[in-house]
Amino acid sequence: MNNLWYKNAVFYEISVRAFKDSNGDGHGDLRGITEKLDYLQTLGVDCIWIMPIYPSPLKDDGYDIADYYSVDKTFGSLDDLKELIRAAHEHNIRIVMDLVLNHTSDEHPWFVASRSDRNSPYRDYYVWSDTDQKYKDTRIIFVDTEPSNWTLDEKTGQYYWHRFYASQPDLNFDNPKVQEEMLNVARFWLDLGIDGFRADAVPYLIEREGTNCENLPETHDYLKKLRAFMEENYPGRILLCEANQYPEDVRPYFGDGDEFHMGFHFPIMPRIYMALKKGRFADMEEIMRRTPAIPENCQWCTFLRNHDELTLEMVTPEERQWMWEQYAPEPRMKLNMGIRRRFAPLLDNDRRKMELANSILFTLPGSPIIYYGDEIGMGDNLDLFDRNGVRTPMQWDNVPNAGFSTGKPFIEPIKGELGYERVNVACQINNPDSFFRSVKRMIALRKSHAAFGGSGMKWLDAGNPAVAAYIREHDGETVLILNNLSDAAEVVNIPAEYQTTYLDLFAGQNIAVKDKLTLQPYSYLWLVKK
Ligand code: NOJ
Repeated sequence: MNNLWYKNAVFYEISVRAFKDSNGDGHGDLRGITEKLDYLQTLGVDCIWIMPIYPSPLKDDGYDIADYYSVDKTFGSLDDLKELIRAAHEHNIRIVMDLVLNHTSDEHPWFVASRSDRNSPYRDYYVWSDTDQKYKDTRIIFVDTEPSNWTLDEKTGQYYWHRFYASQPDLNFDNPKVQEEMLNVARFWLDLGIDGFRADAVPYLIEREGTNCENLPETHDYLKKLRAFMEENYPGRILLCEANQYPEDVRPYFGDGDEFHMGFHFPIMPRIYMALKKGRFADMEEIMRRTPAIPENCQWCTFLRNHDELTLEMVTPEERQWMWEQYAPEPRMKLNMGIRRRFAPLLDNDRRKMELANSILFTLPGSPIIYYGDEIGMGDNLDLFDRNGVRTPMQWDNVPNAGFSTGKPFIEPIKGELGYERVNVACQINNPDSFFRSVKRMIALRKSHAAFGGSGMKWLDAGNPAVAAYIREHDGETVLILNNLSDAAEVVNIPAEYQTTYLDLFAGQNIAVKDKLTLQPYSYLWLVKK
């Protein structure tokens, strides 16, 4: 197997609870995913990221872990996971899971012991302080729910540190025992056959006075240890970095190719939505030009949506305001520093914009990841709390419960315009004109062209601010990409060196590109140089 497989792979993120229920208890489970591997293979997925499956009180949908060494009963068992991995590999699909290093649940036995007594051997597994005035330069992430990063523990009279909910105390990575524990956790799942980890919230592992407690050198030191451990024992398995930061701050997470294999590219995401709304590509270009080169064995991971709010942390305050005005017209659509809506409703369920956004996703540098359900354009439910509105049951069919469960679903599938009766896999999968089929086609084309596997791009000066025009070049192949962001037909100038014959990948025929080319509103072209 090729150890660099992730450099040009298509990823797919699954909320296990919401994807498919195999036993009628109303909760999606691991066996449910196993049942749907054919579907994922049909779409063209190379690797699934499953959201946390650990036992958890679920105050943060599983990102609050109470036991790192088993599977929560609602999702199945360790054997179910082994079977899923086996069956997925048979389908040529890999599986990565969340590795939540930064914090545990307050119900984790380590924390229960830690807070029981100042002299507990586990006291130092967490970050305690007599005052809540330490680390004042650290921002609060869940601004809508948490007033502080410190919470007072009445019994022992000290404060504990948490970057997320108060029910998620931060582990103390200055403690070598904690460092060791988390390597053991990684080992356990790697031994089970998992193909790697999406490492949650990594910028926050270490705290230091006088800093913003993010991206500190000691944090990188630990992550390098984790990588070295994987490299030595599990070559070919990957670490995917969740660091919601500007590209220059994510860059160190790749190290010299000795830290993370992959890192999410957070800032490009909101700029794709900006570009679509403004009909201008300048913001996209600016952030991609600002994106540093990465080592040869690394890759970005690009996305349009995920299970969280559409984060606006990596834009200016003015841009954030503008994005809220444009994409969150109702106050309840806002959450923290973002927007808690899904892909299709964000783009007004406009097929042209939805395809164009995907054309951008699949042609930018980086391996793309699709959030479950966005390949059919399913909707969201704003009545649900926090981020739950974008974690509703997958819409498989127009039958009761959307074909998700034969029991009573943990949350009702969505009804209405983007609900399961109209938007579902069954009605799209065999319909050549469906959105699903467009996405599937893009995936197939992307995967069959080596040019997309690199991590660089070259912007073309095509003389039109509405058309994002760029070259992808890799392994001897050159592709010219044109995305018309405007609702009008637009003309572009093709620089002399690119005036030649191309294969138009969607039309399936050759086209002789001269000095000018006209693109229809919101249309896109992927042209392979002959
Ligand atoms: C990032 C995850 O994506 C999010 O869902 C979670 O709430 C936080 N990390 C805390 O684990």
